Amino acid sequence: MNIFLTGSTGFLGGKLIQNLIEDTDHHLYLLFRNEKKAEKIISAFTRKQRKRIHLVHGDITSLDCGLRENDKKKLYGKIDIVYHLAALVKFEEDLRQELFEINYDGTRNILNLAVKMGAKKFFYVSTAYTVGKRNVGIEALYDPSEDYNNPYEESKVQSEHLVNSYRDHMDISIFRPAIIVGDSKTGEADSAFTLYGFMRALEIFKKRTIRTGRTGQVYRIVGAIKGTSNFVPVDYVVDILSHALSRAENEKVYNITNPDPPTNLAILTWIQQALEINNLSIVENSALQDLSSEELRLNGMIEVFAAYLKSSVIFDDENTKRLIAGSDIEHLNLSEETIRMIINAYFETKAVPA
Ligand SMILES: NC(=O)c1ccc[n+]([C@@H]2O[C@H](COP(=O)([O-])OP(=O)(O)OC[C@H]3O[C@@H](n4cnc5c(N)ncnc54)[C@H](OP(=O)(O)O)[C@@H]3O)[C@@H](O)[C@H]2O)c1
Repeated sequence: MNIFLTGSTGFLGGKLIQNLIEDTDHHLYLLFRNEKKAEKIISAFTRKQRKRIHLVHGDITSLDCGLRENDKKKLYGKIDIVYHLAALVKFEEDLRQELFEINYDGTRNILNLAVKMGAKKFFYVSTAYTVGKRNVGIEALYDPSEDYNNPYEESKVQSEHLVNSYRDHMDISIFRPAIIVGDSKTGEADSAFTLYGFMRALEIFKKRTIRTGRTGQVYRIVGAIKGTSNFVPVDYVVDILSHALSRAENEKVYNITNPDPPTNLAILTWIQQALEINNLSIVENSALQDLSSEELRLNGMIEVFAAYLKSSVIFDDENTKRLIAGSDIEHLNLSEETIRMIINAYFETKAVPA
């Protein structure tokens, strides 16, 4: 198959292309905007595999994704399937415009390009958090006029509808991973966002308390005691996306989620053990007004995660279960031991300098 991918220089994309190239005959056409990153990707493959990897310079925010004329000639009418992963994965309100330019306008540009390239299938990688403020995640499109936690969620929910509106041009499937974390066997993760942004903030805060001699105090994080975080290891997500190549059904939404997510309190305990501290706790919203200035600082550092620390969503993933039934992919059963290994792997490899 001739497969066109966006986002292959990212955390998920980097892993996905390894899966799609190993033990297959596929040719991969990888959209990239940064020469150095593209070269780094290529260097991870054997000479034989490299013959099946084709770099395509461009940017999804431009018309036709900014493809050069000679690339257009090579690709128009030649592509079987498009995986669209490229996105801005940030939650800040002041990035609203950029989020919509990349995540929404960018999706329209790649959809139009996919039609010109003759793609028969379009796989859109969205997020489980298009669920917004609901407590139950379904495997169907959500109403974009509902209330969402941040412009990232909004841009993704609107993009899902945009993708769906191209269903007369090609088969479309939508994949919604929850919070993607490191590899379930090695813990390896090339990410600075979501769990990794949270862990980094806590590590920086720890160093601050050491510097200011305030390690003896307890600092409260505002959340929900029974709130949960839905982690999915990157290899699980990638295995499902690769398996989908031949098995995904048209116009289906697949939640790639953890059926039994741990509580934020448990996760905070595991992170503290990895950081060798024991002075962070979670309190309910009601305590907000009596936070100390240091606690306000801590909560400010993790502000973009606040909505997720308060939520506890149950996701339906029946479509995904059916997709992987009979394959060698086991439905996710993420143990405490594996999550702790993933957390520890981060601090062992990415520690913030003292
Ligand atoms: N990480 C998670 O926890 C998570 C959870 C659920 C869903 N997702 C979804 O999974 C997908 C991949 O996420 P990720 O974690 O791998 O993100 P990532 O590491 O930040 O990678 C983002 C990718 O998008 C590319 N990109 C961004 N803007 C672009 C543009 N204008 N033109 C071309 N390429 C552009 C980046 O290219 P550069 O390398 O050049 O910047 C990079 O390859 C996203 O759609 C995200 O919404 C992620």
